[in-house]
Amino acid sequence: MAYTFISGATGGIGKAFARLCAEKGYDLFITGRSQEKLDALKKELLSLNRSIAVEAVACQLTDEQDRERLLAAADAADVKFERVIHVAGVDIQKAFEEYTKEKVIFQIRVNVEATISLTHALLKRGAPMKEIVTISSMSGVTPMPYFALYSATKGALTSFFTSLRLELKGRVKVTTVLPGGVPTRPDIVKDIENQGLWGKLSAKSPEYVAKKSLKAVQRNKAILIPGFFNRFLYFVMKITPRAISMRFIARRWKKQTKDAF
Ligand SMILES: NC(=O)c1ccc[n+]([C@@H]2O[C@H](COP(=O)([O-])OP(=O)(O)OC[C@H]3O[C@@H](n4cnc5c(N)ncnc54)[C@H](OP(=O)(O)O)[C@@H]3O)[C@@H](O)[C@H]2O)c1
Repeated sequence: MAYTFISGATGGIGKAFARLCAEKGYDLFITGRSQEKLDALKKELLSLNRSIAVEAVACQLTDEQDRERLLAAADAADVKFERVIHVAGVDIQKAFEEYTKEKVIFQIRVNVEATISLTHALLKRGAPMKEIVTISSMSGVTPMPYFALYSATKGALTSFFTSLRLELKGRVKVTTVLPGGVPTRPDIVKDIENQGLWGKLSAKSPEYVAKKSLKAVQRNKAILIPGFFNRFLYFVMKITPRAISMRFIARRWKKQTKDAF
């Protein structure tokens, strides 16, 4: 059977994808760190649609051996993948010098290493892969002082999947999604509220992002920026001299810090 792989399925955006895919009748292979959360989500997805199959396997994405174990679990269940939705990611926000060594590596491994190496492994299986969706971020469009590493990891994903798209042309549709604010965890909801009108205009629900993303990949769109205001912002960022936009970002982003859990 051909499955849809979703990383970060237990988070806000991942769950929205999982629910939408279940409603569409896609068989699902979901992953996140907590088996307990995955089992609860599996139950919910099966109650949404009894006719689908759901495999739920926990994986610490920073750990290469655990990633191998994840793929072995898929093999053991005879799972082949036709669609990959990379959602897992962590967002640490602080001055770079304030990071611990472990958190630097952690963020790079989850956001970049795991996403790209899983893509490689899944493509190498020769399975009937048709679509790859990756949740990057608007934060990767321009360098962001005080959010520098997150911004760099998301910029790397956008660059990588845009290139890969051309290499896979005619065989696999590849879409990279650059959301603005998405109210998922309580700290993100608070950040969006603190941004006032800007936050209100930029914010799009996880359900909106998931729905637009699946439509975009079916249409083989390279980049999706969910929401009119975010597309406008993207345009403004592209035409504003970098020195000016970075001064603005540094002033704004210096004010808040956040660690990954
Ligand atoms: N929310 C926003 O405003 C926003 C905007 C732009 C882009 N994004 C991107 O969208 C994605 C999802 O964001 P979200 O707001 O839904 O975040 P979230 O609710 O925190 O979900 C993150 C997901 O990633 C998983 N994850 C984190 N670290 C992991 C690790 N080491 N190994 C395995 N899984 C791990 C989490 O698993 P657990 O449940 O086990 O923790 C969870 O399922 C991220 O890539 C984020 O960068 C978010």
